[in-house]
Amino acid sequence: MTSISRAPDGTAYDIPGAAQIADHFAEISRLAGGRPVVVVQGLGFVGSAVAAVIADARSVNGTPRWFVIGVDLPLPGSWWKIAYVNEGRAPVGSPDPEFDRLVEQGALQTRNLVATASEEAYALADVIVVDVHLDVVDRRVTSPEEIELDLTSFEAAIRTVGRHMRGDALVLVETTVPIGACGKIIIPALESERAARGIFDPVQLAHAYERVMPGPRYIESVRRFRRSFSAIDETSALRAREFLGSFIDPEFEPLELADTASSELAKLLENSYRAANIAFVHEWTLLAEKTGINLWAVVDSIRVRKGTHDNLRYPGFGVGGYCLTKDSLLAQWSATHLSKNSDILAVTLEALRINHDMPLHSLNLIRELAGGSLSNVRLLVCGISYLADVADTRNSPTELFVDAAISEGAEVTVHDPCLRAWPERPAVRICGDLQTALRSNDAIVLAVPHRAYKQLTPSDFPPGRAIVDANNVLEDAVAQSLHGAGSRLAGVGKGHWRKQGYHL
Ligand SMILES: NC(=O)c1ccc[n+]([C@@H]2O[C@H](COP(=O)([O-])OP(=O)(O)OC[C@H]3O[C@@H](n4cnc5c(N)ncnc54)[C@H](O)[C@@H]3O)[C@@H](O)[C@H]2O)c1
Repeated sequence: MTSISRAPDGTAYDIPGAAQIADHFAEISRLAGGRPVVVVQGLGFVGSAVAAVIADARSVNGTPRWFVIGVDLPLPGSWWKIAYVNEGRAPVGSPDPEFDRLVEQGALQTRNLVATASEEAYALADVIVVDVHLDVVDRRVTSPEEIELDLTSFEAAIRTVGRHMRGDALVLVETTVPIGACGKIIIPALESERAARGIFDPVQLAHAYERVMPGPRYIESVRRFRRSFSAIDETSALRAREFLGSFIDPEFEPLELADTASSELAKLLENSYRAANIAFVHEWTLLAEKTGINLWAVVDSIRVRKGTHDNLRYPGFGVGGYCLTKDSLLAQWSATHLSKNSDILAVTLEALRINHDMPLHSLNLIRELAGGSLSNVRLLVCGISYLADVADTRNSPTELFVDAAISEGAEVTVHDPCLRAWPERPAVRICGDLQTALRSNDAIVLAVPHRAYKQLTPSDFPPGRAIVDANNVLEDAVAQSLHGAGSRLAGVGKGHWRKQGYHL
């Protein structure tokens, strides 16, 4: 195993051995100095932001409310996150400057935010927040009996907590879990580890799923958002409510659901709802394009119906990210394996299939503009991450698009203003300079509405290109000007461009 952990910016960190980790932990224990301690397990997209917000919470006298310890694993893929936090840097590239500011403040100024790989940290905790991942094995599998969960690392993480935690600590699970997981997976794992240490007090456990949104309002999405939560008994519920209230702004009072299965289901339902909404709009996208209609303007006109229709999704390139591509599968898995019933979430699973294949529509458009074949076409894809101005490439729809384009013989280059590398597709050519990329390709797909792309003007595009705007990046006036300069254009949901003959 390599002993180097490389951060996305290329910085290499030596992964320390057990003795060094133990020395550092002794220092952390001294620093904690008997203060109330929160340990956040998992310093990924969710845990690192949650840890930063908790470290920023203040008591009435203005001193930090909690001493916060972030725990992650001493592995090549994760040690750098620990190193970043201890250097005062957020381990997630974010357009929200507040995220970096809070990590810097907690780690270097108030010194109540530290990170470690030491499992001993759980023994210091009053509250342990679980923010580790729980994945499906293959997100493309949507037939109920074939959906598989990778529970091993999640269970191992919970067992580690059980092996070290104090008997009276509250465990607050934020990880998105299958319906029934608290009762059937988490409590048994904690109880058996605690029993092995002679602890037979009841476990104190709550489930409070995260609604964090990586993006320009990353930190606000943790601190200024209502949470739904649930707990296994009254004591746990009281403690969970008090804990959440210690770092979430008071006007966003947490909302308690009847039991842990309800809040587990709530998270899966809310993400499945959003995924289904996107899939639903996709079939109207295809209709609008064929009918010469600007669906973007139509959706805007419908969204004025506040309260019933203001959440209708827009057309787009595809769906990516960690949650919308898997949470419906967790729900179906729960039905089949934990509830052991024959219910099939047919609409939900169909939506997932539609969303998965959505980028192939943009592929069809660019192939059409390129004259019916992508063979030897120099094709630039603008946007790798799945969300505008966010450096998250997980399950990006650009993956399927690029794989298919390459298999059709296109010479693909990708660009993304937020990324210098594409970990999931290291062999694909990535160009760091947008102007060079635009000049040196014949066909261009604007996949993600990054700010840098929305600022492009007609003079940035050489004449005579094939251009697909998959995410409402170009204004109509820009499209008209580009078409006037000899480019052919199509847009996802932009039937009006087709009506104007921009594709010709
Ligand atoms: N990404 C989002 O926007 C988002 C939003 C809401 C909810 N969620 C949910 O939150 C959970 C976490 O998501 P994420 O995006 O932060 O995942 P992530 O993969 O970015 O982070 C998980 C982290 O946990 C660490 N980890 C794994 N096992 C561990 C262990 N035994 N001890 C310590 N650390 C361990 C991993 O190394 C990793 O750094 C998931 O269930 C996800 O569905 C995610």
